Amino acid sequence: MASTLLAHHPWTKHPLIISAPMRLIALAPLAVAVSQAGGLGFIGAGSDLNDLTNQLKHAKALFLDNHIKSEVLPVGVGFINWGADFQLALDILANHIPAVAWFFAPERNQDLLRWSTGVRDVTQGRTKIWIQIGTVADAVEVANLCNPDVLVVQGADAGGHGLERGAGIITLLPEVADAMQAIGKGNINLVAAGGIAEGRGVAACLALGAEGVVMGTRFLASEEANIAKGYQDDVLKSSDGGVRTVRSKVYDTLRGTTGWPDRYGGRGIINESYMDAVNGEVTDEMKRLYEKALTKGDEGWGEHGRLTAYAGTAIGLVHQVSPAHEIVSEVRSQALKLFSPPHTSKL
Ligand SMILES: Cc1cc2nc3c(=O)[nH]c(=O)nc-3n(C[C@H](O)[C@H](O)[C@H](O)COP(=O)(O)O)c2cc1C
Repeated sequence: MASTLLAHHPWTKHPLIISAPMRLIALAPLAVAVSQAGGLGFIGAGSDLNDLTNQLKHAKALFLDNHIKSEVLPVGVGFINWGADFQLALDILANHIPAVAWFFAPERNQDLLRWSTGVRDVTQGRTKIWIQIGTVADAVEVANLCNPDVLVVQGADAGGHGLERGAGIITLLPEVADAMQAIGKGNINLVAAGGIAEGRGVAACLALGAEGVVMGTRFLASEEANIAKGYQDDVLKSSDGGVRTVRSKVYDTLRGTTGWPDRYGGRGIINESYMDAVNGEVTDEMKRLYEKALTKGDEGWGEHGRLTAYAGTAIGLVHQVSPAHEIVSEVRSQALKLFSPPHTSKL
């Protein structure tokens, strides 16, 4: 079946490069820059929607600066459903219609039914529904419940929050694709997330059946990311992400972001906070040291720091800070080159 993904978002180019909705980090400037480069940029609204109207207004103004005026804003908005206020979300989306609403981490999958129906109603179907899942069972359940336009298949390598038990994208994606065919939902587009940071990863995901890829960790090193220098430097300096990052609840406990459903943890770069947490226990002394690190500015991050640097196993593939539009076009052309026919020499 032909992909409807590029048709739904006519400014986008193949292969579709998507910037992840990273709470507090992926704001209007990053989302707009990615969409203007032919990708699809997301604003990370997360679980607290108080700033979302401002972000959407800012995105609209940035597009207007470039003479882009459109009833549907060519960016998406990512919600963390266990914490986000449903009614407030609908009120905001009714007034500022984004191209996509992305759902992640509901208390129960069943909750996503009212979210999908509600958003489709208030936007008259103009906002597409994307749902990020990390298991085959969740993919089947939300596909049957909500019939999303896109499933974002999140593998275990992903930075930030994800399931504590999950597979890497190389097995998860084709198994989800097979499961969708088996339940007659092969029309749902799949995009891949988790560990993709450059063209080789994109090409691999296309070969596995994805229509596009989501990158979070790579865009932490974009000029438009709203990120502290100490955090960004930590991403640039770190490598060997399977060893240097870990998925854990320690960072949430220290930060006080503790409402996550039990099966989720956040993948971040290992630092002193994590090393001190024996069996995941966070002590009052660790909290004190964490608070103290908050006062140190950029020095609070790093291997010997204590502040949280959420990032995925792809850290070793991220070498420099670049404008988001360059990241999108570079990764896209690297992937296309890998698919172009090899040069045949004329003998
Ligand atoms: C710093 C950071 C913050 C994130 N915040 C969110 C979020 O607010 N909502 C969400 O759905 N996903 C969030 N994610 C996960 C991404 O949606 C995505 O699954 C992940 O970035 C893909 O893996 P990668 O980091 O290897 O590219 C976050 C990821 C990172 C790295």
